[in-house]
Amino acid sequence: MLICKRLRSLPENFPEFLEELVDGYLDLYGEAAAAEYRTTVSPSMSQSMGLAQVVAFAAYSGARVVGMAMSVMHMGVGKIAFIHVLGKYRESGVEAQLVQASVEVLQQQTPTRIECETIPLYSVNLKMVFEGLGFRCIERALMIRKLEGIDGEDKTNCTRQMQTADEIRVVNCLVDAYHEHPDVELHLGLQHADAAMELLRRFQSGAFGPAKPEWIRVMEDDQGCCGVILGHAMPPDTGYIFQLAVQPSSQSQGRGTALIKGLLSSMANAGMKQVLLGVTISNPAMGLYERLGFQVHRHVDVFVQDREAING
Ligand SMILES: CC(C)(COP(=O)(O)OP(=O)(O)OC[C@H]1O[C@@H](n2cnc3c(N)ncnc32)[C@H](O)[C@@H]1OP(=O)(O)O)[C@@H](O)C(=O)NCCC(=O)NCCS
Repeated sequence: MLICKRLRSLPENFPEFLEELVDGYLDLYGEAAAAEYRTTVSPSMSQSMGLAQVVAFAAYSGARVVGMAMSVMHMGVGKIAFIHVLGKYRESGVEAQLVQASVEVLQQQTPTRIECETIPLYSVNLKMVFEGLGFRCIERALMIRKLEGIDGEDKTNCTRQMQTADEIRVVNCLVDAYHEHPDVELHLGLQHADAAMELLRRFQSGAFGPAKPEWIRVMEDDQGCCGVILGHAMPPDTGYIFQLAVQPSSQSQGRGTALIKGLLSSMANAGMKQVLLGVTISNPAMGLYERLGFQVHRHVDVFVQDREAING
């Protein structure tokens, strides 16, 4: 019989979790990233658990913690940010208990919606668990491209590093490209200019991962900046494409392609070995990524419970 209870600090048997988490990270991001994750995951989870907006739950088998989940409120949205269940306890109802407990706590804070975008570091299908609670599923893919063979000093590339004077246009690009785009619901920071500027500032400050200035690249037409790509590192040797947007009137003319190539070149030059990105399966941008050598690394589901479903 398992019991689900609030967790205020890392459990004594966290080392059991650590080994499994590092294995999962290795599978997903490679050796260098896994080695670094091993040293950072405990302090970073401990720190998160100390934050007022974070709630953690543990599933206990007797005195032993066999599953953990963490959730957080951010900008009025409830997020399930972490879930892990130890080997032999998986998919036997533990995930369901942890998700349900997390959702109940988030619902009490009257969020505009609740979502789970986290990629579990073990093989698990959470679709039935979330759908049973009234969530809908958005199918996404994590794509990867190795940087071998990329020219780290591609002089033919026509993109350039963003300057301060470009910022307003960059923000407009982001908002305009996502206006009426089905994925805008996954990018709350892109719904209006103020939110997009705040997102850009957070990105520049490294909130999502170290972001070199040359990894915020723009492309111009005769009206000025009409496309932007934002890349950051997932240390130590993996890059991540955080956002890519081209003004609707300037699309389908090769600008998205040039922005990706410019970023890949700059990341190769900085010693990155591979680049990852996340894309919704129904987004036609997936074809663009495939053409540029990205392959699906893992299928990942995002689960969303809208306000109507929360209020029953
Ligand atoms: C994705 C995006 C940046 C591509 O920019 P772009 O300048 O049109 O890219 P390119 O001209 O180099 O390549 C165009 C290709 O992208 C793909 N594509 C991406 N989004 C598309 C869309 N909404 N409609 C049609 N094709 C699209 C197609 O394969 C297209 O090929 P085609 O022109 O031969 O039909 C742009 O469509 C955009 O800003 N979309 C909204 C934001 C978004 O979805 N970003 C990606 C998030 S993962």
